[in-house]
Amino acid sequence: MRFRDVEHLFRLAAIFLAGTLVFVVAKAEMRPKDFGKDGHYRPAAVDEIRARAISYAGQTACADCHSDVVDLRAQARHKAVACESCHGPLATHATAMSDGTEAAKPVRPDGRTLCVRCHAAKTGKPKRYPIVDIKEHAGDENCLSCHKPHDPRIS
Ligand code: HEC
Ligand code: HEC
Ligand code: HEC
Ligand code: HEC
Repeated sequence: MRFRDVEHLFRLAAIFLAGTLVFVVAKAEMRPKDFGKDGHYRPAAVDEIRARAISYAGQTACADCHSDVVDLRAQARHKAVACESCHGPLATHATAMSDGTEAAKPVRPDGRTLCVRCHAAKTGKPKRYPIVDIKEHAGDENCLSCHKPHDPRIS
């Protein structure tokens, strides 16, 4: 009596089986060959990433040649902000300068767009993060007409 209409269970089982088959075949086809060799990742990815060109030089590289800026920043509120978070990635500039090869001079960041990126009010900013109402504080003026970027505090 209890197993009177079992056919629908077979149909359901067939669907599951077909699904499993599709999954197994697709996995075998699509999974990179070296996946899982050294753990749950693709070992070749490490070499691919290592082969990419480095775009950031790092703070210490800048300090080798621009010690004047480092000294200026030593006591300033921006000392914790890395050079390249404002200047952008400059690895090619740093290597070119130390190799003596030709390279374009880095463009100076535009004060207006740069400063607003960090100092405009946004939800989620910590309480101690200095923010200003851009329109009220500066109107359309460039931030650099009053603030020095490497030592931004005025008084
Ligand atoms: C090996 C020395 C060297 C290193 C390392 C180096 N610079 Fe320079 N940098 C120079 C020299 C020399 C100039 C002037 C180039 C010119 O006048 O054509 C310059 C120019 C600049 C300028 C443009 C200055 C201007 O007057 O407009 C900026 C900005 C700058 N560097 C930022 C950086 C940052 C940020 C780093 C670190 C990522 C860095 N540099 C690393 C030597 C270096
Ligand atoms: C808060 C953003 C910010 C940070 C951080 C910063 N800079 Fe600058 N820097 C600027 C801006 C903006 C200018 C352009 C100033 C101008 O146009 O008068 C500039 C100009 C320069 C110049 C051109 C000459 C000069 O002294 O004005 C050099 C060189 C330079 N920066 C190097 C550095 C180095 C090296 C560091 C890290 C030790 C650094 N900067 C960190 C924003 C920054
Ligand atoms: C990458 C983010 C970033 C950029 C870009 C940036 N700042 Fe800042 N600035 C900060 C942080 C973070 C602090 C607070 C540092 C601290 O208190 O340790 C700060 C501090 C300041 C202060 C000091 C506030 C005080 O109460 O003393 C002034 C003024 C200032 N910035 C102006 C500027 C100006 C002008 C520019 C554009 C040239 C600029 N900032 C670009 C992150 C940034
Ligand atoms: C007309 C001059 C002027 C201009 C232009 C200007 N500022 Fe200021 N800013 C000041 C003065 C004055 C103070 C307060 C005194 C100080 O920094 O010591 C100040 C303070 C700040 C502070 C610190 C606020 C705090 O709560 O601690 C930040 C951040 C700031 N300015 C960012 C900017 C940015 C970003 C721009 C460009 C959109 C800008 N300023 C343009 C004059 C100016």
